Amino acid sequence: MYGNRPYVLLSAAMSADGYIDDASPRRLVLSGPEDLDRVDAVRAGCDAIMVGAGTIRADNPRLLVRDERRREQRRQRGEPASPVKVTITSTGALDPDAAFFAADGAGKLVYVTAAAAEPLTDRLGDRAAVISLRTGTGLPEVLADLAGRGIGRLMIEGGASVLRQALWQGLADELLLAVAPVFVADPAAPRLLGGGLLAAPGRAVPGRMWLAGLERAGDVAVLRYLAGGQARA
Ligand SMILES: NC(=O)c1ccc[n+]([C@@H]2O[C@H](COP(=O)([O-])OP(=O)(O)OC[C@H]3O[C@@H](n4cnc5c(N)ncnc54)[C@H](OP(=O)(O)O)[C@@H]3O)[C@@H](O)[C@H]2O)c1
Repeated sequence: MYGNRPYVLLSAAMSADGYIDDASPRRLVLSGPEDLDRVDAVRAGCDAIMVGAGTIRADNPRLLVRDERRREQRRQRGEPASPVKVTITSTGALDPDAAFFAADGAGKLVYVTAAAAEPLTDRLGDRAAVISLRTGTGLPEVLADLAGRGIGRLMIEGGASVLRQALWQGLADELLLAVAPVFVADPAAPRLLGGGLLAAPGRAVPGRMWLAGLERAGDVAVLRYLAGGQARA
């Protein structure tokens, strides 16, 4: 926990030319089995996993720990088998039948702007706790609320907009970036830090991260970057 927010670990896979998906409606597979297993292990070490609403709509992820041994280890530590799932939306445009909301035993938190909170609460029913954002500050308010709920370690798995906000606002402690030997080369496809919300065109993300690790997961290279040096690892 760092002040009034959890430790924030960003996780993403990208093509060798910096895209996190292609422009087709189908999800681009970037990771192989070894990398998916690595991500599963990272998930198992976190208290919560967050994605933006855009990723729920585009990829329909389940966001569960898949490996039964890891699920059991979590239970033995007195934790739920899978981390709490978290998302954020301004419009509230989320399908209650999305895999995110499945009755899988994982806790679910949906942060939504005040105007969209009531209709979303009605639509989701008991599938998730809907939390109305009071200040409109977005991610900092979400992180402070998560800290208040005892979330000490948060994994953010995308998409482009949420990753960009976390880095831009200095809210990321760690970035695990899997680089796949795939090229997309399509300007219409989403890039690692694309996404419209809170974009600041022409300005670089402030600060320089520190390369703390390099790992091979099948044919994917995994770069581990830390913000603020080794002391925060
Ligand atoms: N390769 C990878 O590792 C990876 C991982 C995840 C996703 N992806 C890809 O990323 C793409 C989706 O990217 P994206 O940028 O659309 O998705 P995103 O970051 O998952 O979601 C963006 C949406 O989240 C909500 N949101 C974000 N910040 C907010 C804030 N501060 N306040 C209120 N709402 C906020 C908004 O939802 P509303 O529009 O509902 O208001 C916004 O449109 C897809 O192509 C997906 O495949 C790739």
